[in-house]
Amino acid sequence: MRILVTGSADGLGHAAAEALLDEGHDVVVHVRSHERLAGVEDLLRHGAGLVVGDLSDLSQTHDVAGQANEIGRMDAVIHNAGVYSGRDVLPVNVVAPYVLTATMRRPDRLVYLSSGMHRGGRPVLDHVDWAGARQAGNYSDSKLYVTTLVAALARLWPEVLSNAVDPGWVPTRMGGPAAPDDLRLGHLTQAWLATSQDPEALTSGGYWHHGRRHDPHPSVPDARFQDKLLAALADYTGVPLPTAAV
Ligand SMILES: NC(=O)c1ccc[n+]([C@@H]2O[C@H](COP(=O)([O-])OP(=O)(O)OC[C@H]3O[C@@H](n4cnc5c(N)ncnc54)[C@H](OP(=O)(O)O)[C@@H]3O)[C@@H](O)[C@H]2O)c1
Repeated sequence: MRILVTGSADGLGHAAAEALLDEGHDVVVHVRSHERLAGVEDLLRHGAGLVVGDLSDLSQTHDVAGQANEIGRMDAVIHNAGVYSGRDVLPVNVVAPYVLTATMRRPDRLVYLSSGMHRGGRPVLDHVDWAGARQAGNYSDSKLYVTTLVAALARLWPEVLSNAVDPGWVPTRMGGPAAPDDLRLGHLTQAWLATSQDPEALTSGGYWHHGRRHDPHPSVPDARFQDKLLAALADYTGVPLPTAAV
């Protein structure tokens, strides 16, 4: 299978890309700039493809989608890149996965990194600063939005398997050295959802933690909230979510 992993220069993205390469998949890695190539040097040496672009920047995000489309249709995309704080939170954690989803050739499987912290997110969409121009974004809100995007895609694109993963609180650069969960388990569910033929992995609309489905925040399955989110993202980006396969 051909699988794109965003944010693969470090942490869970690097671990997922490495594991998928080891399993013999055709992996495409992504870094924010050429200065970050050192982070994927080992993966490139083992044959990974590459796309480059800063996902906090809308035009570079479109360019990343273009580079990926030039490589060819992905069988799966793991939307892993993320930030915990600052003005990039909404652009990187929500806007970029939305734009990539709407503009890349449609894969068979989509996996998005959520977080247990999405439960503390606020299901409010009025006056959201999608560009991060006025204020730092709220991480919990961003993960509630992206988990809701997953549920919307599962409803609107029934031919695509779309799932969200809480990887646990693990000691990556984002998680910090005191994170209590097992780093070795942090990437397994995403890689499994992207590639496995297990009947459980061939389901859509799930919110997963360590190989098991859990109930997400109650607003996630709310179709009106999903539609409002899609409308807000389409309005901000100028890119509607296509209904027909692209
Ligand atoms: N670690 C945890 O405990 C935990 C818990 C729940 C959810 N998650 C989620 O898991 C995902 C991976 O997190 P992690 O712990 O592996 O974090 P990490 O070690 O900080 O890695 C984040 C990755 O995202 C990339 N990235 C950030 N901003 C970017 C941008 N503007 N453009 C392109 N790439 C960008 C980073 O690139 P650079 O290296 O160039 O910065 C890096 O490759 C995130 O979505 C996170 O929210 C993590």
